[in-house]
Amino acid sequence: MIADVSVSDKIVVEKSTVPVKTAEAIEKILIHNSKGIKFQILSNPEFLAEGTAITDLFNPDRVLIGGRETPEGFKAVQTLKEVYANWVPEGQIITTNLWSAELSKLAANAFLAQRISSVNAMSALCESTGADVTQVAYAVGTDSRIGPKFLNASVGFGGSCFQKDILNLVYICQCNGLPEVAEYWKQVIKINDYQKNRFVNRIVSSMFNTVSNKKVAILGFAFKKDTGDTRETPAIDVCKGLLGDKAQISIYDPQVTVDQIQRDLSMKKFDWDHPLHLQPMSPTTVKQVSVTWDAYEATKDAHAVCVLTEWDEFKSLDYQKIFDNMQKPAFIFDGRNVLNVDKLREIGFIVYSIGKPLDAWLKDMPAFV
Ligand code: UGA
Repeated sequence: MIADVSVSDKIVVEKSTVPVKTAEAIEKILIHNSKGIKFQILSNPEFLAEGTAITDLFNPDRVLIGGRETPEGFKAVQTLKEVYANWVPEGQIITTNLWSAELSKLAANAFLAQRISSVNAMSALCESTGADVTQVAYAVGTDSRIGPKFLNASVGFGGSCFQKDILNLVYICQCNGLPEVAEYWKQVIKINDYQKNRFVNRIVSSMFNTVSNKKVAILGFAFKKDTGDTRETPAIDVCKGLLGDKAQISIYDPQVTVDQIQRDLSMKKFDWDHPLHLQPMSPTTVKQVSVTWDAYEATKDAHAVCVLTEWDEFKSLDYQKIFDNMQKPAFIFDGRNVLNVDKLREIGFIVYSIGKPLDAWLKDMPAFV
């Protein structure tokens, strides 16, 4: 389409995350349809995160521009650099060759996801040894070579990017005859799956080895706070795991609609990545699931509460009121370490917090995976 409508030389900028060497494919197609017009392809990967996109855009850690290492390629890179130079300090605009730019995007997401899997792997060991993952992460993160960010243990990472990009990286490694490297990165996803399973098993084993017909309230369904996005959210796997043992689930998320939740729980993995017209038109309703717009209603008469997204409002709920209206013993499983564990225990809850020293109740009931 670009070749069809172009009447003068063009710079084409890849912003989407793509497999390495995509620029070459774009270039070939354009050249074969060019009618004498010259095209330069640049890779300028996007590093914005959901919920902080505008701040990230105005104050990026860096802007990355990759182009061909030819006089025309350098000129195209310079042209795009001048656009960013309007608001980004020059030292933060990195220029590389095309393949480095394409690969750096995948590598950055893989490194970020790897940090979460590393801290989540530690969280399992913390629970077994009596260490506290928040203290360990803080101690480790104060080493300036490691840094403090992105070390929050969780029920698992989600979002439309991390898993897809790592699988993309794994595929490229396999295609290039690097099975050991592929296996290395695959492990980041395996630990993420392990963490979600571990969380479900912890819930089931704590509640006398079954959640069948018990009401479990889910607080938070989005893959992270301040967004209604549910793509690859760990909440899907946790809910499916609980539904597998026939729990009755009641969900509250400040931004996610009942339609979205029903769709997510009835769709197959990665169906969300298909165009809308290829997604199931009217997903079958999962009957054991109800969705409300009120945290107190979701938790009323529940046997357990699970926090799966770190929404700020969950910190200031009236947990005494929640406890009073729940079945006893009342359990809370905090998959994001956002709740005040001591206060909850004072109220009377049995509390599980990822990677924290275990409640006496849970000690004799190890979660099997
Ligand atoms: C991620 C990257 O952070 C962006 O730089 C990138 O541009 C984007 O993917 C993309 O490729 O489009 P995003 O998926 O919006 O951004 O969200 P993140 O803030 O990275 O969080 C990803 C997941 O990791 C969430 O489920 C979050 O809850 C989880 N997480 C994050 C943790 O479990 N622990 C942490 O310490 C941090």
